[in-house]
Amino acid sequence: MIISLLQDLEQQSLTRGIPIIGREKGAWLYDKVKEVQPERILELGTANGYSGSILGSDGAELLTIEIDPGIAREAQDHFDTLSINARIIIGDGVSEVQKLVKEKQNHGSFDIIFIDFAKNKYMDVLKDCLTLVRKGGFIIADNITMAGCQDFKQAVLKHSQLKTEIVKIKDGLSCSERIK
Ligand SMILES: C[S@@+](CC[C@H](N)C(=O)[O-])C[C@H]1O[C@@H](n2cnc3c(N)ncnc32)[C@H](O)[C@@H]1O
Repeated sequence: MIISLLQDLEQQSLTRGIPIIGREKGAWLYDKVKEVQPERILELGTANGYSGSILGSDGAELLTIEIDPGIAREAQDHFDTLSINARIIIGDGVSEVQKLVKEKQNHGSFDIIFIDFAKNKYMDVLKDCLTLVRKGGFIIADNITMAGCQDFKQAVLKHSQLKTEIVKIKDGLSCSERIK
């Protein structure tokens, strides 16, 4: 399974202080991918490609956004090694997602959107992510109990278009299905 293949990358990330989701959340995410059988996934916050490798492990097309070109190069190497069908956009998650909304007619919608970038910017992308995710698809956000994410957490819990559960692994994930 992909989590075992990523063991070395997980260890290296811990040693270098790269904040990846790690194996417990990774195993949950892998199960979600198996359940949803996504064709297209959007990720905000690529880092070295740990979570992206899990998201893309079942053959989905992964579009992932990262602001740091150096770490994105590492991610590309890992995606190549693991034959993950990924394209990395180098840029700011908020403005790149806005561009995707404008181009939506050219590329269609996503089955899963995974948000794991600047914690104080989650709210800035919520509306656009709702536009980009298909009905029945999922918006999943990492570190949901962190201080910077509380406005986002309350917004997804209350949102009339979303059915949200909080997954209690480490500092938590929110998992919101777009129901309308
Ligand atoms: C928590 S790490 C992502 C970890 C990755 N999802 C994983 O689990 O393997 C957050 C990443 O978001 C990137 N980032 C921070 N601010 C960003 C922004 N405004 N736009 C895009 N990426 C950003 C950071 O450079 C960092 O690599």
